[in-house]
Amino acid sequence: MNSALRNVVVFTLVLLGLYVLLGEVVTNISGGGGPVAAEGINPEAGEAIFWGKGKCSTCHSVGDRGSTIRCPNLGESGPLALPIGMRAAERVGERQAQGATHIQTATDYLVESVAFPSAYVVEGFKDEMPEAYLPPISLTPDEIRAVVTYLQSQGGEVDASAIQLPPEVMAAAGRQEAASPWQPYMQGDPEAGRALFFDLEGKAPCAKCHMVNGEGGQVGPELTDVAGTRPPQYIIESIVSPSTEIASGYESVLLQTADGRTIDGVMREETDEAILLVTKEGEELTIPQEDISRRRDDVPSIMPDNFSDILTVKELHDLLAFLEQAAGVLEEGEPEARGVAPALSVAARSHPRGRLQSLFDFMRDTVPGHAAVPLGAVVCRASG
Ligand code: HEC
Ligand code: HEC
Repeated sequence: MNSALRNVVVFTLVLLGLYVLLGEVVTNISGGGGPVAAEGINPEAGEAIFWGKGKCSTCHSVGDRGSTIRCPNLGESGPLALPIGMRAAERVGERQAQGATHIQTATDYLVESVAFPSAYVVEGFKDEMPEAYLPPISLTPDEIRAVVTYLQSQGGEVDASAIQLPPEVMAAAGRQEAASPWQPYMQGDPEAGRALFFDLEGKAPCAKCHMVNGEGGQVGPELTDVAGTRPPQYIIESIVSPSTEIASGYESVLLQTADGRTIDGVMREETDEAILLVTKEGEELTIPQEDISRRRDDVPSIMPDNFSDILTVKELHDLLAFLEQAAGVLEEGEPEARGVAPALSVAARSHPRGRLQSLFDFMRDTVPGHAAVPLGAVVCRASG
């Protein structure tokens, strides 16, 4: 090889190297928030997240796909009879009429729906969609972008470069632990929780009404994935205070019949002819409308509301651990691993105030700002 040729080869190689280097730098810079469509931000990736890690399909169906009925269908059979990619364009006008001038495009609406679902609650549904970027779902910014392109692909135009994520979503990445202000008080034992859950003769016969992994009753919602979409605080609250937030599609109804019977249960279906409901015992009843003399819909959940009197703090955490394990989100480890001193969990079991109700009473009476205080701190004071 003569020296001129060698120089050319060397120069070319150096140039190539520089290009590769430059390419990486640019990708790194733009990877965070830039408009460049990075790898994995496309409808296929978003679809996998929608039906997988994002847990969207535990609540939503898309057209004929999926079986959930609790939340708006995101296909053509949903609200406005438009698939979500097109429906989003209609929502822009509604949002602007409400004063949300920052919602300019269909994509802005889709981003808002996923990041801040409470900002706009679809008519006829409840404000019960979790923020996908916060625990336990914890989608990363790129995963949210991918899901949004999947939603765009349902009848709309796929354009990753139109996606602008709010600063909250960018800031949450990397500090997801801190985003959850409430931590369970102690590490529960999932096996003890499972035993409690399925013991129909025991003190907490949850399986009478709830199904986990195909086993149990169908009076209440299936709980296999509940810990994957809800923070632990929501689950504990659902158990100790079921009527605070009633899961939609499982509202109770109280009926009085012309022949003097009182019947309560979960409303399943209503037609002009009859009401179909499921009783606490799991029995399905069809009551003809003409037999109904009085009806009340604003009644508490049929889930028993005395678990806080019955279950110890430990048992409550066992149930939580069981549901977390079923959803695949249980963080294994000793209490220390979660920053709870073992002495505290002993206190919870042995202290006379170890039962949750008295703990709550104690909090209410003695601890200022008790709603924001972790249970652990309360037991500390109760026993100290
Ligand atoms: C625990 C149930 C639940 C989960 C999980 C859930 N959603 Fe929702 N979603 C709802 C409910 C309820 C509504 C209607 C109330 C509202 O607008 O906030 C809704 C509304 C929406 C809307 C607006 C629909 C419209 O007609 O305008 C979109 C879009 C959406 N969800 C997407 C998603 C995506 C994407 C995921 C997964 C990252 C997801 N949801 C996870 C319950 C859920
Ligand atoms: C007599 C039937 C019944 C029993 C027993 C019962 N539940 Fe429920 N549960 C329901 C119904 C109905 C709902 C939906 C209405 C509501 O939100 O209160 C529900 C809601 C829930 C929710 C909220 C689900 C969601 O998707 O929002 C959780 C969590 C839950 N139950 C856990 C339990 C656990 C744990 C036990 C046992 C300690 C239990 N339940 C016992 C009927 C029951």
